[in-house]
Amino acid sequence: MDGDWKDKEYAAHYNALYATSKKEFGACIDALKLSAEDSLVDFGCGNGGFLALAAPMVRTALGIDISAPQIEEARKILSGTKNVELLMTEFLKFNPEGRMFTKGFSRKALHHLTNPEKEVFLKNIAPYFKKDAVFLLEDGIYFDFPRSEIQQNMPRLMAACAEYYGSTWEAKKKDLLHSFNEEFAAGASEWESFFNKAGFKVVLRKPASIFYGTIIAVKQ
Ligand SMILES: C[S@@+](CC[C@H](N)C(=O)[O-])C[C@H]1O[C@@H](n2cnc3c(N)ncnc32)[C@H](O)[C@@H]1O
Repeated sequence: MDGDWKDKEYAAHYNALYATSKKEFGACIDALKLSAEDSLVDFGCGNGGFLALAAPMVRTALGIDISAPQIEEARKILSGTKNVELLMTEFLKFNPEGRMFTKGFSRKALHHLTNPEKEVFLKNIAPYFKKDAVFLLEDGIYFDFPRSEIQQNMPRLMAACAEYYGSTWEAKKKDLLHSFNEEFAAGASEWESFFNKAGFKVVLRKPASIFYGTIIAVKQ
């Protein structure tokens, strides 16, 4: 995305153009099989839309985000939800301080880390996930080629985006091109290798398109 998450106007642009329906977040909640015993963490929680739906279903929920305007919005939306904690911090500086998680979630956020940073991030957080904890990643993920082959796959990516976004594609094209060219979405196989090295086993790869989809990993 072509912007600075610490900028209020950019965060508002994103939240308006890419607003997520309850149905979309609901599909993630179903896949995570949330329960009343769960301790959930949402990396890149944005304006708290997912946590607002998920927190009532779990014991504790924690949202992490680097952006002051996003955390401010999340605090408003979640003001009446007692079991949620919000931390304004960068992914790589996150210190769980003794917390242990049974469910992890991150949507459209970890592609901001480079591949070496993704590997470090997963290794950093892994000790704080209990055995059999489930991590659901939904993000820009290249399902049939590695990150290094973006340019030769650009015509396919453009066609896939036009099909995926339909009538909203033109409004989103600039952001998506910026994301492909300047941000760090990885290939599904690259993600799988990072999860493996951190002690997780990938149990599901579910593309919504060749450039976007879901990976579910379970802590071993
Ligand atoms: C595209 S938004 C997604 C928000 C939400 N997860 C959703 O699905 O709507 C990406 C979020 O990741 C956060 N973010 C980006 N880089 C980050 C970093 N290095 N550390 C922590 N948060 C980061 C941004 O501030 C932003 O709120």
